[in-house]
Amino acid sequence: MVVTAVATIVVIAALATAAIVLNVQHADATPVRNKGRGYNTEEYMAARQRLLSKEQKRALGAELQLNKNELQLNNILLKEKKEIMENSRLDRLTYTPALSFFKSKEWIEKTTTFKIIRKMPKGAALHLHEPAITSLDWFVKNLTYRENIYMCTDKDGFILLNIFLTPPQNPDCVWKLVKEERMAATSVELFDAKLRQNISFLSTDPLTKYSGTNSAWDRFNKYFEQVGSLLFNAPLLRDYFQQALQEFWEDNVQYIELRGAMFGYTEVDGTIHDTAYGVELYKNASEEFISKHADFLGAKVIMSGLRFKSEGVIRNEVLQAISMRRKFPDFFLGYDLVAQEDPLNPLLFYLDALLYPTLRSLDDALPYFFHAGETKWEGTDVDENLLDALLLNTTRIGHGYALAKHPELADFVKSRGIAVEVNPISNQLLGLVSDLRNHAIVPLLADDFPLVISSDDPAAWEALPLTHDFFVAFMDLSGQDVGLGFLKKLAINSLKYSALNTFEKEAALSLWQSKWDTFVTEAVAEFS
Ligand SMILES: *[C@@H]1O[C@H](CO)[C@@H](O)[C@H](O)[C@H]1NC(C)=O
Ligand SMILES: *[C@@H]1O[C@H](CO)[C@@H](O)[C@H](O)[C@H]1NC(C)=O
Ligand SMILES: *[C@@H]1O[C@H](CO)[C@@H](O)[C@H](O)[C@H]1NC(C)=O
Ligand SMILES: *[C@@H]1O[C@H](CO)[C@@H](O)[C@H](O)[C@H]1NC(C)=O
Ligand SMILES: [Zn+2]
Repeated sequence: MVVTAVATIVVIAALATAAIVLNVQHADATPVRNKGRGYNTEEYMAARQRLLSKEQKRALGAELQLNKNELQLNNILLKEKKEIMENSRLDRLTYTPALSFFKSKEWIEKTTTFKIIRKMPKGAALHLHEPAITSLDWFVKNLTYRENIYMCTDKDGFILLNIFLTPPQNPDCVWKLVKEERMAATSVELFDAKLRQNISFLSTDPLTKYSGTNSAWDRFNKYFEQVGSLLFNAPLLRDYFQQALQEFWEDNVQYIELRGAMFGYTEVDGTIHDTAYGVELYKNASEEFISKHADFLGAKVIMSGLRFKSEGVIRNEVLQAISMRRKFPDFFLGYDLVAQEDPLNPLLFYLDALLYPTLRSLDDALPYFFHAGETKWEGTDVDENLLDALLLNTTRIGHGYALAKHPELADFVKSRGIAVEVNPISNQLLGLVSDLRNHAIVPLLADDFPLVISSDDPAAWEALPLTHDFFVAFMDLSGQDVGLGFLKKLAINSLKYSALNTFEKEAALSLWQSKWDTFVTEAVAEFS
């Protein structure tokens, strides 16, 4: 290896010397004239600059005119970005921001760029899932301390949690009261730390631990199994969601759109609530939070079904969704299908159910927010989910990881302004891309597609609500020359492509703008 590298350097050096010699000889010969159509050096450099700026002007955020303060902050960001990139590129060192999030997380948090992005008003998070939005710390330190919480260790060696008045017989996974287990432990701190580690997707490096998308998804699904039962308990879900809003607010996010089941929430006595109750639970909690935080715009919800259910089940959910849309037109946004796309049913499988609303009167219209193209399998049924999502008039596309491979569909997305919700850390940890600089969405960010950055399931991998994903988008999905305008446009896009109504959107943008101006002034003062 070393010998090859040295040999390569020698060859390159030799070529470079030859080139210099040639240049010198050329310069000594007759002066270069602009004969015919050739450029002289000056003309060449001018043409080079024209092409370069044409290219740069196409990038997301490039059209934004930055004011004096913003330019100062831009310089601070670009200085660190350049340093980090050049240290790695020229000294041939590992580029930490693009590594597995397991390895980069702590390092990221020490950078100035991270601190700036944490404080930055980021607008909305538009792609999130119900059971993975509140920090594991709070989950362990708060929810597992409640009454009637049980744990058991399943055959795969993972701790499952649940809530019962009296636990059922469960020989494969024997239920024990968490309170008693914790009391019997030598150290409460250690018990809680172990419990947290047992649940976290990030307790080992997913990129080395799991051999690919499928095994990563198996572990990911286990996370939902571990925490899911507690979060179907209505009172626990309400508190969990309120805490999520608190954490998003603290992460300087102004508004969220959340995908969740909405049906099947229970009480500890076995009562099962209907769908309207589920939607109201979220609506009330969101309103209560807003009443105490005037600078937060709350949440709206999207019902999400599972893409392994039968057509009949999905049809029933679509009917439920239509009725929720009628009942809560300002809060209930629409419908989506979730779970690992690769092996499960494509949208086409559910076509009859999904076409149902459009075959009815306009009043029944049901907006869709489909996950589509979260795959590397080009040209397969799953890849074609993109096609069906678009033909079913999806409002936005979840992930759209495969979109750049489909120029016709990409044109469609751009011309109709259908936003793609990009979740970079999720894509990496679930096995779509290891070095984040190779993320498939990069070409579309470089071409100002309607894109937003979100975080998918930040709590599962111990990321902050939105800051870490914005950080990797900035450091890995955009060029060294791309600065504050990119981040600003991402924040603006998140509100522009939200499902807020026109009136709410205006209010959201003006709230965001005033926060933005304060942020820029404060950040310049703090980080100059
Ligand atoms: C989870 O906890 C169980 C019970 O303490 C233990 O046997 C298992 O090794 C832990 N697994 C992980 C992945 O931490
Ligand atoms: C858990 O959170 C709730 C708010 O949701 C709070 O009132 C309560 O004091 C917390 N309990 C613990 C044990 O931290
Ligand atoms: C939501 O709030 C309304 C009005 O206070 C109340 O009638 C309803 O029962 C609440 N629903 C839930 C699920 O908490
Ligand atoms: C999608 O929208 C187009 C244009 O408005 C319309 O012609 C088409 O029928 C819609 N498709 C569905 C499935 O609703
Ligand atoms: Zn998702």
